[in-house]
Amino acid sequence: MTDRSTTRLLSGPSLAGAAEGLGSHTSRLGPLPRGIDSSSLVTELEASGLLGRGGAGFPVGRKWRALAERPTGRAVIVANGAEGEPASLKDRVLMAHRPHLVLDGAILAANAIDADEIVLYIGQEHKAAVESIGRAIDERRGGVRQPIRLVQAPIGYVAGEASAAVNYINTRDARPTTTPPRVSEHGVDGGPTLVQNVESLAYAALIVRFGAHWYRTAGRLESPGTALITVGGAAGEGGVREVELGITVGEIADAEATPPGRIQAVLLGGYFGTWASVRDVRQMPLDPAEMKRRGLTFGCGIVGLLPTGTCGVVATAGIMAYLAKESAGQCGPCVHGLRAIGDATGRLASGQAGASEVVDIERWASQIGGRGACHHPDGAIQLMTSAMNVFGDEFIQHARTGRCSVTGSRIAAA
Ligand SMILES: Cc1cc2nc3c(=O)[nH]c(=O)nc-3n(C[C@H](O)[C@H](O)[C@H](O)COP(=O)(O)O)c2cc1C
Ligand code: SF4
Repeated sequence: MTDRSTTRLLSGPSLAGAAEGLGSHTSRLGPLPRGIDSSSLVTELEASGLLGRGGAGFPVGRKWRALAERPTGRAVIVANGAEGEPASLKDRVLMAHRPHLVLDGAILAANAIDADEIVLYIGQEHKAAVESIGRAIDERRGGVRQPIRLVQAPIGYVAGEASAAVNYINTRDARPTTTPPRVSEHGVDGGPTLVQNVESLAYAALIVRFGAHWYRTAGRLESPGTALITVGGAAGEGGVREVELGITVGEIADAEATPPGRIQAVLLGGYFGTWASVRDVRQMPLDPAEMKRRGLTFGCGIVGLLPTGTCGVVATAGIMAYLAKESAGQCGPCVHGLRAIGDATGRLASGQAGASEVVDIERWASQIGGRGACHHPDGAIQLMTSAMNVFGDEFIQHARTGRCSVTGSRIAAA
């Protein structure tokens, strides 16, 4: 058996190798404890302070309690491994290499809330993850009370949103549904449904084995535990890392062998996240609670390092064009508003727009928030607003002169 003091999500066999099979998984971590009553299990999770890793950071124990104490209804678990966020790799790496940890978490959740079905919802483009989880489900056949189903999520940013996932599982339409009723009340096949990110589930499977106290031995500040993050950009290759929460952004950059001065800004939390100037966040701990206080987002754990000499306006235009394209096309403010902002940002980036367009973007951004059936436009607006704060000078330079202050060059109209 493993040394629990050093065990975390990616402990075990090298990630350069194949997925960990059931034999290795069980001999390393021991079997999933049985016979723990639902109430003790949920209490342990609450005591751990584990926060959801799909983006919103909602306490996992609280979510399980709400479903465990539901008055009626046959419940379903959806393990969310859609991972449509272009800057994130962590869920596919976890599913591809530690599939049984994810399954353990889903089975545990199903037992805790007395669910009678488990659905693994995995982005169809994450081939290694789909294969690995498929094999792991086969290895578990006959040993699990609930049926386990693998549903491949369609490609798209919005397909991973909780109500879109449930809608796709029910009807093969991956557009979010207007809430209420929430999926926790009316989800897969109309039953109360727990939609939980795969990393959150994998961690729950470790916490039930080793305890809330063990979980809290990692984490330097307020938010306990470790987290899977995806580091991108700058000098190194980037990739998925497991870090102790509270590590500083500077330490993460240094670990990528990125010397000070090589980075100008950091994208925190992903395409739904926030840009921050590296000056402001180099010493900042990557701690969801602290980040929230500073108006920043941990999101799904993205730390994107924007190298010096790369234009933040151009980088933002690329993200906004993507997010506008990914609108699920059913709410006017989202469809038209994001397209207008994306187009205007694109024109600014290519030197084809003036100061009035900057004003337009600010006005549209203030009008769209909270007006979609899902939080897609809210995430996009948050990103856009942070870009205008962090790259304000570059936006003005692009608008006034058609020159880029970062590269110093005249912008060639597209
Ligand atoms: C547009 C959009 C896309 C999302 N995509 C994902 C996704 O790919 N994977 C995921 O786990 N959560 C995604 N979420 C968050 C889910 O709605 C949900 O909050 C999450 O799966 C719950 O798991 P957690 O509590 O463990 O974080 C997305 C949310 C939005 C608004
Ligand atoms: S807000 Fe946008 S992404 Fe969300 S359901 Fe409406 S159109 Fe689709």
